[in-house]
Amino acid sequence: MKFDKPATKNPIDQLKVVGQPVDRVDGRLKTTGTAPYAYERHDVAPNQAYGYIVGSAISKGRIVSMDLSRAKAAPGVVAIVTAENAGKLGKGNFNTAPLLGGPEIRHYHQAVAVVIAETFEQARAGAHLVRVKYERTKGAFDLESEKDNAKLAEKLAGGGTSDSKVGDFEKGFAAAPVRFDATYSTAYESHCMMEPHATVAAWKEDELTVWTSNQMVAWAVGDLAQTLGIPKEKVRVLSPFIGGGFGGKLFLRADALMAALGARAARRPVKVALQRALMPNNTTHRAATIQRIRIGATQDGKITAIAHESWSGDQPDGKPETAAMQTRSLYAGADRMTAHRLAVLYLGEANAMRAPGEAPGCATLEIAMDEMAEKLGLDPIEFRILNDTQVVPDNPAKPQSSDPQSKKPEEGKSIPHPPFSKRQLVECLREGAKRFGWDKRNPKPGQTRDGRWLVGIGVASAFRDNLLTKSAARVRVDRQGVVTVETDMTDIGTGSYTIIAQTAAEMMGVPLDKVVVRLGDSSFPVSCGSGGQWGGNNSTAGVYAACMKLREVIAQKAGFNAGDAVFTDGQVRVGNRSVSLAEAAGDQGLAAEDFIEYGTLDKEFHQSTFGAHFVEVGVDSFTGVTRVRRMLAVCACGRILNPKTARSQVIGAMTMGLGAALMEELAVDKRIGYFVNHDLATYEVPVHADVPHQDVSFLDETDPYSSPMKAKGVAELGICGVAAAIANAIYNATGVRVRDYPITLDKLIDRLPEVA
Ligand code: MOS
Repeated sequence: MKFDKPATKNPIDQLKVVGQPVDRVDGRLKTTGTAPYAYERHDVAPNQAYGYIVGSAISKGRIVSMDLSRAKAAPGVVAIVTAENAGKLGKGNFNTAPLLGGPEIRHYHQAVAVVIAETFEQARAGAHLVRVKYERTKGAFDLESEKDNAKLAEKLAGGGTSDSKVGDFEKGFAAAPVRFDATYSTAYESHCMMEPHATVAAWKEDELTVWTSNQMVAWAVGDLAQTLGIPKEKVRVLSPFIGGGFGGKLFLRADALMAALGARAARRPVKVALQRALMPNNTTHRAATIQRIRIGATQDGKITAIAHESWSGDQPDGKPETAAMQTRSLYAGADRMTAHRLAVLYLGEANAMRAPGEAPGCATLEIAMDEMAEKLGLDPIEFRILNDTQVVPDNPAKPQSSDPQSKKPEEGKSIPHPPFSKRQLVECLREGAKRFGWDKRNPKPGQTRDGRWLVGIGVASAFRDNLLTKSAARVRVDRQGVVTVETDMTDIGTGSYTIIAQTAAEMMGVPLDKVVVRLGDSSFPVSCGSGGQWGGNNSTAGVYAACMKLREVIAQKAGFNAGDAVFTDGQVRVGNRSVSLAEAAGDQGLAAEDFIEYGTLDKEFHQSTFGAHFVEVGVDSFTGVTRVRRMLAVCACGRILNPKTARSQVIGAMTMGLGAALMEELAVDKRIGYFVNHDLATYEVPVHADVPHQDVSFLDETDPYSSPMKAKGVAELGICGVAAAIANAIYNATGVRVRDYPITLDKLIDRLPEVA
């Protein structure tokens, strides 16, 4: 089904099941510990051996020699795979450094060997006996000192151009009556999903099956085949349950490749979990950024010039953090400029983490907006509203592609200054102000006390694009009237199983308990996968398309004209004649497969999601410790397919934003070049005690340009702007402006007001 005209009334609009806050259909499996995660697939292949990965002890250089003799002789060791004995390996599309290093080493903890043994303990013991001699070469590890060597970034994740210019920024800025110019920094971050990367791999002759934990099943198939040099048809990937990803499982990782190589060498199935302590350096991370923002405005607060430049680093052939992107779309202003610069750093691979680009981008832009509002003597909400725009003021941020490898301009080139399909930023800000009690905020910082606590309130806008991408599904109905949906879509904790079940139930007119959803198997039709907050809208739209086709098949079988047929209560009806789906399905059952694909609606109308974050903090006037006391997010992001799972996404994202604001930071050893705090004991994330009451509100909205579902993304919108709202609240509480994340107490303590 091609979606190339705005959606009109369709079966989803009945909202009998879609739009209802139903419980997760996979909830029981998860809460009873019976959802089969990758590392627990003891059942899928007999005689599994265990693999333990050895990570490189240097960041850049070469392996001179490896001594495997003691490891090989260790009890239980079955095989050891290294680059030397692995055979010729290709490289997938989605990684910069090879997943198996050697002799060249590109980053710390790059996998250099996997030891396969009868038990996990034997594999681990064997791995500790592997002796590697390295030769180190000089590498660059410090963004600050490499900033001046940073180059124009040619390739952007998702395509698009690195730089944008509208009008003449320098001239406009110089002429502006009020000017603001500041530089900010954001930290390296790690995804820290609960479930580590894990895989069970088994070969049957030349066919490989992996049970793994991956957000994008079709990408994993492609990259595994390419790396192993075998046809895609010989690879099957299953990833039905995923304990979080946040972008860290978008791509094939070392666990899957090493399990496949290990299983080939050991001639039996092998399971590998990437050790937690390898994750920050072995896998991807969110790049640190340095960002300079300049804003020029008239005395009465109209922005006339705005520039956002961002510097980040990555491996050779890497891509920049697209932190200036939202500044192309968020606020008005005639003279504008954005730029992304990329330095080569031999830390692990920098790549997507929840709302790549916009999360660190809104974290700084939205402080700058707060600072500029103060300079202008304006309320920060009114300043934002004054500079709202209903058309994209710059070149649109990104072409609508989910494929980070996409280089070719998509069909139907982006048009300049397209209107937004729907933009309710102002409504989010106003609604939030009312609900949060903004009118009680003292605009003068450092004035509000609660015992030893200095109390403040902050606000920030949230912005994130909505991406449209092809997605397919197959739907069957059997003689019990049970509807089964199959698609390679994944559920990374987001609720895909549930919203897909709701979609099929609505479309086929059956109750939710008559729907079975099967996900995460490369033998199913290829979906959009989970990433970039595109999963919810696109995967359900694909299921919509397949259901439309199945409705036709059923109507025809029942002797009805499909256009007249009504699907309700497990029956297909025309007038007063009805046939049950079970009867129509017969003994053979009926099936249909289709996909949703898109025309140019996303070029004619720029599709974004909007929100406003409100935060109240207390800062301890003696210690500088910040405690978040209240949080509210108001979001406008199309139809909410399930308010319960959508809210869950937003409170998770708000929590992650809290981490970015106050504690999350991978610390770099700048001499050796690695992230020092590479475990959950030393990399701090918010825990329950850090998180206060979180309130989430969705504006009543449908977007007919997004898909027949009229839904958009929400999971990444929720993190965008949170950190800035906290930073702005800290400023309101204390009068101390911190432009360097995370805002730890050492950055506050010697600047706190005297309150004694
Ligand atoms: Mo997302 S960072 O594209 O999983």
